[in-house]
Amino acid sequence: MTSHSNEHYFAETPKSQARFGLVRTCLRGKPFEFTTASSVFSVKRVDLGTRILIESMLLPEKGCALDVGCGYGAVGIAAAKFKPRLHVVLTDVNRRAVLLAKQNVEKNCVFNIEVRHGDLYDPVKECCFDCILSNPPISAGMDTVEAIIHGAPQVMTEKATFQMVIRSKIGKKSLPEAFMEAFGDCRVLAIESGYRVLMAQKN
Ligand SMILES: C[S@@+](CC[C@H](N)C(=O)[O-])C[C@H]1O[C@@H](n2cnc3c(N)ncnc32)[C@H](O)[C@@H]1O
Repeated sequence: MTSHSNEHYFAETPKSQARFGLVRTCLRGKPFEFTTASSVFSVKRVDLGTRILIESMLLPEKGCALDVGCGYGAVGIAAAKFKPRLHVVLTDVNRRAVLLAKQNVEKNCVFNIEVRHGDLYDPVKECCFDCILSNPPISAGMDTVEAIIHGAPQVMTEKATFQMVIRSKIGKKSLPEAFMEAFGDCRVLAIESGYRVLMAQKN
């Protein structure tokens, strides 16, 4: 029998038998519960970068937000919980992550949310967002990270924000450059524990 134990968290259709877990945590002062599974990002706990993005993200009161590469859904579910008038869309290329995110939407009783499967911005081609949130898949390579940045403006409203958490040592120069090319803007929203949250507002 083939072993799939080293399967990437960004596999489109994970082959390994899912081993499920449960993460109970507090985010921005509110309790959340997430079902997690093998072959999905950060099975045992909410990742530190994810947590830093959630704690620092700037959310509009209403309109539409996107969590691109949602994994089991922590960022988008927290955004929807904190801003009940905001419609939040979660997307991921990993079908197992999408199933978990759907379960976690129900588990956390959030209703202003939908989860879609697909690559990058393909599942939301027809949409326009006021805010895009990303904890990008570094293991998938910098080309994917840069595709997330460069593809964003096409699905953003005027003055929308793009917020991305990343380890500070990764793409120290190249990521701010990519932000400037894509949005003509790059600010640091937070720096903490070896991570930074970069933000841009679309012109
Ligand atoms: C670092 S994880 C972050 C997951 C989640 N946002 C969190 O913070 O816990 C990056 C996610 O991007 C997804 N991903 C990788 N490549 C992708 C692509 N081309 N399109 C959409 N999602 C992708 C992975 O499956 C993974 O769930």
